Amino acid sequence: MTTSRTPARKRLHLAAHFPGVNNTTVWTDSESRSQIEFDSFEHLARTAERGRFDFFFLAEGLRLREHKGRIHDLDVVGRPESLTVLNALAAVTDRLGLAATVNATFNEPYELARRLATLDHLSAGRAAWNVVTSSDAFTGENFRRGGYLDHADRYTRAAEFVATARELWDSWSEDGTPRPFAHRGQHFDIRGEFTVPRSPQGHPVVIQAGDSPAGRDFAASAADVIFTRHGTLEAGRAFSADVKGRLAAHGRSHNSLKIMPGVTFVLGDTAAEAQEKAHHIRRRQVSPQNALLAAEQIWGTDLSHLDPDGPLPAFDPDPGARLTQGRTRLGDPQEIADRWRALSRAKGLSLRETVIEATGRQSFIGTPETVAAEMDAFVTQDAADGFILVPHLTPGGLDDFVDTVVPLLQERGAFRTEYEGNTLRSHLGLPEPARGRGVEGSTS
Ligand SMILES: Cc1cc2nc3c(=O)[nH]c(=O)nc-3n(C[C@H](O)[C@H](O)[C@H](O)COP(=O)(O)O)c2cc1C
Repeated sequence: MTTSRTPARKRLHLAAHFPGVNNTTVWTDSESRSQIEFDSFEHLARTAERGRFDFFFLAEGLRLREHKGRIHDLDVVGRPESLTVLNALAAVTDRLGLAATVNATFNEPYELARRLATLDHLSAGRAAWNVVTSSDAFTGENFRRGGYLDHADRYTRAAEFVATARELWDSWSEDGTPRPFAHRGQHFDIRGEFTVPRSPQGHPVVIQAGDSPAGRDFAASAADVIFTRHGTLEAGRAFSADVKGRLAAHGRSHNSLKIMPGVTFVLGDTAAEAQEKAHHIRRRQVSPQNALLAAEQIWGTDLSHLDPDGPLPAFDPDPGARLTQGRTRLGDPQEIADRWRALSRAKGLSLRETVIEATGRQSFIGTPETVAAEMDAFVTQDAADGFILVPHLTPGGLDDFVDTVVPLLQERGAFRTEYEGNTLRSHLGLPEPARGRGVEGSTS
């Protein structure tokens, strides 16, 4: 029984990432379906809502990736625009949050604030915006300005973008009339009246994805949720401590920012079966061609003459080369090559086996019982506040999780059995921002 002295049990948050263009999805699986047709989005969203998830999450790619000058999107090509998809999903779901990744470098605050506020109205308070800044100039070439901003400028623009959007969302008065706004800053000089009344959540939920110190500061000052790649217990705890440690400087409390790593899972009836399935899936995710491609991304040069079942290249990566366009860099190429070589030497692995081992993204492997227990422990040990699940099958990859793991999490008291409110803010335990106050506790 909970007494006034016992702190409330920490519950986890869950979101569903629609797996599209990435090397997580096994497109060769006979169960894989379209990543463009509405049926796919609807299936995953309905499954997530059946599991009482907090939100459905769409990443964004503004240009088709290229590798060695040719379009390369890992077996499937194309990606519809997120907000349009989410507006359609609003009509076939009731409670599920709807999160769109939208770039702050190539958009304009007035237009985007309008579209997000509209989704918040249409969905009765379920909209979220994942603010990204984009990783390269290549991505921006198809935009009017075409140009690109330095890393630091991307974050000053993103911060001013979010602050401006919040001014717009706040601009209607309590009695429901539009008030003129004027914003003059380094990046935007705009004035007028906002076309959309204050939306059900006040401000749609703001998510941030980006890992540099500038990105973390931006998240601590402006975001409600962080989408991160730090998916191991140690990395998660260090990341959490770092980011939450930055909140006080912005007048914010520990609980006002939720940390949600993107994680994968593989379930089996026994631990051994799950491991075997995971091994099989990894081999299908990293085909011989994908292994060479991964090495080419690090070495920055054509490696098609190499045997994926042979050793890693004997020469060092070209630090300046950029064979792949449109994909976030994974880190310093020389450091990665050194790490891969050490791994290959230590375990006697071929190039492909090294890539399989080094880029492994299977975070939770086991029976539904052990996966539920591990996820719960992860969250109670403050390595995260919840997870954005990235299934390896589109769109049915979440079905088993919802049918088997969710009930066990609920039995443990680690996850809600029913939605307690209607808005995404209520699922996340975040208050509606007071007018003119920005995020909770912040004055920006
Ligand atoms: C977990 C994660 C997910 C991201 N997802 C996207 C995305 O869907 N679309 C996009 O354009 N950029 C995405 N980004 C890129 C970031 O917005 C950012 O531009 C990039 O990470 C560089 O910023 P940083 O140096 O602060 O990490 C993502 C970054 C991270 C860490």
